[in-house]
Amino acid sequence: MRDVAVIGVGCTEFGEHWSTSFRDLFVNAGALALEDAGISGEKIDALYVGNMSAGRFVEQEHIGALIADYAGLATKNVPSTRVEAACASGGLAFRQAVIAVASGMEDVVVAAGVEKMTDVGTGASVDMLASAADREWEGFAGATFPGLYAMIANDYMNRYPLTREQLAQVAVKNHENGAKNPIAQFRNRISVDTVLSSSLVADPLRLFDCSPITDGAAAVVVVPLERAHEFTDSPVRVLASAQASDTISLHDRRDISTLDATVAAGKRAFDLAGLSHKDIDLVEVHDCFTIAEICAIEDLGFCKKGEAGKLTAEGVTALGGKIPVNTSGGLKACGHPVGATGIKQICEVVTQLRGDAGARQVDAEIGMTHNVGGTGATVVVHILGV
Ligand code: COA
Repeated sequence: MRDVAVIGVGCTEFGEHWSTSFRDLFVNAGALALEDAGISGEKIDALYVGNMSAGRFVEQEHIGALIADYAGLATKNVPSTRVEAACASGGLAFRQAVIAVASGMEDVVVAAGVEKMTDVGTGASVDMLASAADREWEGFAGATFPGLYAMIANDYMNRYPLTREQLAQVAVKNHENGAKNPIAQFRNRISVDTVLSSSLVADPLRLFDCSPITDGAAAVVVVPLERAHEFTDSPVRVLASAQASDTISLHDRRDISTLDATVAAGKRAFDLAGLSHKDIDLVEVHDCFTIAEICAIEDLGFCKKGEAGKLTAEGVTALGGKIPVNTSGGLKACGHPVGATGIKQICEVVTQLRGDAGARQVDAEIGMTHNVGGTGATVVVHILGV
């Protein structure tokens, strides 16, 4: 296996893009990544595109072909593959690109993610997202993702000492970080009171406990490490790529407050990189709901079960804290275009490791990303370093 490096990253703004089409979102992100890498499209050997549900959100399937075409690569016959793993589609597309380069099969590969969710109403969007849970046992019984994560929150709060205020602090911290991120959907600072007085969505989760519905795209360029210096003076190495599965429905889980796939993928990533949680300087976790960030911090091993709420309230996970979590603003404030999120997480860690993160810059040499599909049926973890 060859070592792999990221040489370029690019993200569109996340938010509502009424005047930009699905294909243009992708092309815009891809162009930013190529410009950042200092290469032209002719150099690309393959594309992997994370997308959850364009068939339902914008009534377009055959995304690999569409993207190759509108990126100007179809007439050059460049292979292009759609990767789908619900909200983990982006992280998994990156993993496929890493595997393709590491194996020696391809050299210059673009991994991207794109989703355009706001062309449909909230009800339709929530239903489309729910198809990534177990439709027969959960969706048909009326469960949505806010509902499923609310069950996790209730179970967790019954068993561990997490207060409603501590849970709100996750959103406050992520909005604070989002306020410093020019691509974030929400750049407004909020207080604990903003969260606690917002509308109840699924008890105990309120509006500000939820990630929003978002349009956006992100892309990165990966190459063999041995060729990285042909393109850039600041490559970022991929130190580990790990993936794990769990049951698709919550009721089949051993313990619904612990995402076993996160535990397994995190452990595998640490083993592959020969590192432990103490070596990680920042982590982008999948905070689709505030409770998901609490579980992720613990399940990745950054603290014991039951401690993440206290850590968050004490500022340990804030910019400048011991382990900054979601410097981008996370899914909560940066936004969550489901197929693009995993790639945006890679973009954020690469940007931080290169020292290009501006007002939200932290001191970091090694970063981690954690991307979840469903309530934890698919988890993808990467470790990157300089
Ligand atoms: N956080 C903060 N503000 C939000 C928000 C969020 N998650 N979602 C919407 N808003 C704001 C909007 O900006 C808007 O503000 P404005 O009135 O000042 O313009 C207001 O709330 C209403 O927006 P709207 O789009 O009508 O919200 P909604 O009620 O239709 O949707 C949710 C809110 C929470 C239901 C929706 O965002 C949701 O389903 N989120 C979860 C997505 C999800 O499950 N993703 C997959 C995770 S696994």
